[in-house]
Amino acid sequence: MTFKTLDDAALSGKRALVRVDLNVPMAKGEVTDDTRLKAAKPTVDKLRAGGAKVILLAHFDRPKGQRVPEMSLFPVVRPLAEVLGCDVAFAQDCVGDDAAAAVAAMKDGDVLLLENVRFHPGEEKNAADFAQALAANGDLYVNDAFSAAHRAHASTEGLARLLPAYAGEQMRRELDALNAALGAPKRPVLGVVGGSKVSTKLDLLNNLVGRLDALAIGGGMANTFLAAKGVDVGGSLCEHDLGDTARQIMAAAEQAGCELLLPLDVVVATEVAPGADSHVRALDAVGAEEKILDAGPKTLARLIAAMDASATLIWNGPLGVFEVPPFDKATVAAAKHAAGLAKSGGLVAVAGGGDTVAALNAAGCAEDFTFVSTAGGAFLEWMEGKTLPGVAALSQ
Ligand code: 3PG
Repeated sequence: MTFKTLDDAALSGKRALVRVDLNVPMAKGEVTDDTRLKAAKPTVDKLRAGGAKVILLAHFDRPKGQRVPEMSLFPVVRPLAEVLGCDVAFAQDCVGDDAAAAVAAMKDGDVLLLENVRFHPGEEKNAADFAQALAANGDLYVNDAFSAAHRAHASTEGLARLLPAYAGEQMRRELDALNAALGAPKRPVLGVVGGSKVSTKLDLLNNLVGRLDALAIGGGMANTFLAAKGVDVGGSLCEHDLGDTARQIMAAAEQAGCELLLPLDVVVATEVAPGADSHVRALDAVGAEEKILDAGPKTLARLIAAMDASATLIWNGPLGVFEVPPFDKATVAAAKHAAGLAKSGGLVAVAGGGDTVAALNAAGCAEDFTFVSTAGGAFLEWMEGKTLPGVAALSQ
């Protein structure tokens, strides 16, 4: 796909409507992780340097077309201004008189954040009249929200049809990195997919086995594969009803020449609690009461060897219950190894998805990965091989 980027745009004096993703984690009115705020900075900087008026459009949470005061974007203004290093004005609405007045008051290089676009039902419906009302405040449209590009909403898709549309810097970085990992990667390519359930990642697994040279499966979902191969997983989380599905995925992998790396040994405990008494078990030695909560040392060693033998790694999902130590051990060790290889230039290591990023941050190694996506659902849909409407609309 080809897009127009900000290098193609005349910016001076223009009103740039910029869709960013400010759906940041908050606790007690404070932003607890500013990764997405930082991600917006390169585009805002570039537009300001070019003399544009920067009008930010974003959603926060899921207010379902209602004005929900707790889901206002106002608390984001101050931390955003700190990250951007400039004043950020705020308008109480994203369309209508409030928005128009705030835009009219802007000087070139100013930044304005408009209130949550999801306060209007037309946003999620991608309603033509709502998209028109948004477009009324802009001369051009920039989509910098890859992480919301799986939504065909007015601010992520509709606007691209109404105004000259450009990919922002973060959008461009995400697409370049994902293309390097799965579109046209250096081979061999290794995937790591973890997380609790196979049922939530079926499309992902089916797409990946056709594209990767090897795929390591970890987390609770590996139990479903082990059980499908006849392993007694005791009291572990396991989707026993998905045995046939797991066997189909294994057959598809074999046919496509993708080596599936299932656990060789496991770490078990009878309770999921910090510091719980845990044991390494061979696959044929899991007790009836025991739960598999992490990958074992042999599994980890084989994964590390697979990383050493690969040119590209794409990672989604933890290998164990990483939120509860000691069951974070395999995830942390594998993440550190990948980060080391990426840092020395031996591996293109790309990761994404909510839990994955939290796990890499907990391991203190997100920065050494080649690229960590800011996206959760959009990263998954992209890995599933789906067309993201927000991206498709940009390439018109
Ligand atoms: C996200 O947090 O993944 C994006 O902001 C999309 O949010 P949504 O799932 O509410 O559309």
